[in-house]
Amino acid sequence: MKAIIFFSMSKKQRSRNIAMQIEGDHFEIVNQDKAIKFAVFQMFYYGYKTVVKKEVKFQSPNIDFDKYNEIVLVSPVWAGKANIFMVQYLAKNRFMNKEVTIIGSSMGENKNYFKSFDNLIDESNRVVEHISYIKGSKAFDRKV
Ligand SMILES: Cc1cc2nc3c(=O)[nH]c(=O)nc-3n(C[C@H](O)[C@H](O)[C@H](O)COP(=O)(O)O)c2cc1C
Repeated sequence: MKAIIFFSMSKKQRSRNIAMQIEGDHFEIVNQDKAIKFAVFQMFYYGYKTVVKKEVKFQSPNIDFDKYNEIVLVSPVWAGKANIFMVQYLAKNRFMNKEVTIIGSSMGENKNYFKSFDNLIDESNRVVEHISYIKGSKAFDRKV
């Protein structure tokens, strides 16, 4: 069984759309932090929070990890890496012994994204695939 855990913020909701195309049970990390309407302000405010690792407020989905052997993480790339909501979600919600696929949605500047998950996921898990979407289209899909 596959659990797809996603976070999405932009008006286009790209990560949500990507997540919904994958078959399995879907779980959303819900933003309870500041709602910012304009993309440029979002970029500054949450870009800063991602870089300095500021605490953000969010609602964690309730997942019975025992039910799943595969986990798919889908989220936007912020400041070149995993965004602060996904980072804090993974810090607070540990899972073990799963096959993990990591998917990033970006505008194209994503070189540290996959590496930034290294310390966020327990070593007992096996990352099996990295998938990148740029401007909503799949850019690459590589087995790890
Ligand atoms: C705070 C913030 C930082 C971002 N940083 C990057 C970045 O470093 N590289 C990039 O290509 N896109 C960056 N973007 C754009 C998003 O990654 C891109 O629009 C993504 O597809 C949005 O996914 P979503 O619709 O699921 O929120 C950033 C957007 C925000 C709000």
